Amino acid sequence: MLKYLTFYEDRGIEVWHAEGQYVWDSNGRKYLDMHTGHGVAFLGHRHPHIVGSIIEQMKSIAVLSTAFRSRVRDEMLDTVSKIVPSKFEYMYLLNSGSEAVEFSLKIARKATNRKKIIYFTNSFHGRTFGALSVTSNPRYRKGFEPLLPETYQLKYNDVSEVDEAVDENTAAVVVELIQGEGGINIATRNFVSALRRRTVETGALLVVDEIQTGFGRTGTTWLFEQYGVTPDILLAGKSIGGGFPVSAVFIPGDTASKLEHGCHGSTYGGNPLACAAVKASTEVLISESVPQQASTKGSKLIEKLRSAVMGYRIVREVRGVGLMIGIELRIEPTKIIRCLQDGGLLALKAGITVLRLLPPYTINDSDIEFTVRRVEECLSEQFSS
Ligand SMILES: Cc1ncc(COP(=O)(O)O)c(C=O)c1O
Repeated sequence: MLKYLTFYEDRGIEVWHAEGQYVWDSNGRKYLDMHTGHGVAFLGHRHPHIVGSIIEQMKSIAVLSTAFRSRVRDEMLDTVSKIVPSKFEYMYLLNSGSEAVEFSLKIARKATNRKKIIYFTNSFHGRTFGALSVTSNPRYRKGFEPLLPETYQLKYNDVSEVDEAVDENTAAVVVELIQGEGGINIATRNFVSALRRRTVETGALLVVDEIQTGFGRTGTTWLFEQYGVTPDILLAGKSIGGGFPVSAVFIPGDTASKLEHGCHGSTYGGNPLACAAVKASTEVLISESVPQQASTKGSKLIEKLRSAVMGYRIVREVRGVGLMIGIELRIEPTKIIRCLQDGGLLALKAGITVLRLLPPYTINDSDIEFTVRRVEECLSEQFSS
């Protein structure tokens, strides 16, 4: 029999079923899901409105090239235009975060007629060759070089290098406002302002990757809103499809006008099912005030975690924005993650020493209490204070 090739550590359970913020394994055991498939199931598993919308779409048409117009695409555009700044006149759908990043790099080179691309230490933008070229982790890059030429790494949150490094040859600066995979590292206001100022001065495009931070998770629809800057290209993915594999690139009209026919394409990108998923997810985001809920619940969870675990010697910091939370430890978190899972809570790692929690916005007060209790129990079980 074929074996599935996976590059993730096996978590040792077989998951059979999921609903809302919970999943159940093959033994009927229930888990509170703060892994959410690397942050995808932020709207909860199988949200009924999203499931209903995809099923309805399947009954009419599921496959269509974007060379043809469709009603679901128009409806999706109409709905999504309520949650993005009017600066973004165009939207392009792809199938994964990495593909959105790839396209943004292509757009930047084509639209500026420049080659240089700037990215940052501890960044994560995906695993395809272009996306990997702006992903810093040497472990992910090793063995795949040479990557894209003219990509340069700067230190995250260090403004001192920005003015010199971002110049008139720079096509794009690609940045996450909170580095998810890299360790829940939050960009400082100074840093983001410096990037915005310098990219305007030089004509480079500021590409903000909100594939993990965006679509409500950080307490506003987009995290860039909290910095008072608007990107030149905005990338979304993960939760934007409510579980359906889809990503989105938002592009202003003057940039889009520099992209001619044939310069990009995707067989599956923008298919009717993806349009239905994005439309329904956006409706949920708006009608259920998802960003506000993420903000309130996130603050509560972060505050409670802080008061419960900051006394432990191995805890360095609890940080996060909305429902994107990291507990920085003095050790590698694998044992703690295993302990949490054994006690019914799924979490994941970020960076080298960070325990990452990416809960759905549907978590309730008792889920918050349960999380805090389980994290504290696992810390005290493994390490005395
Ligand atoms: C910020 C960011 N960008 C890009 C990606 C890549 O997305 P995908 O795995 O869907 O290709 C990820 C995935 O974790 C991400 O967190």
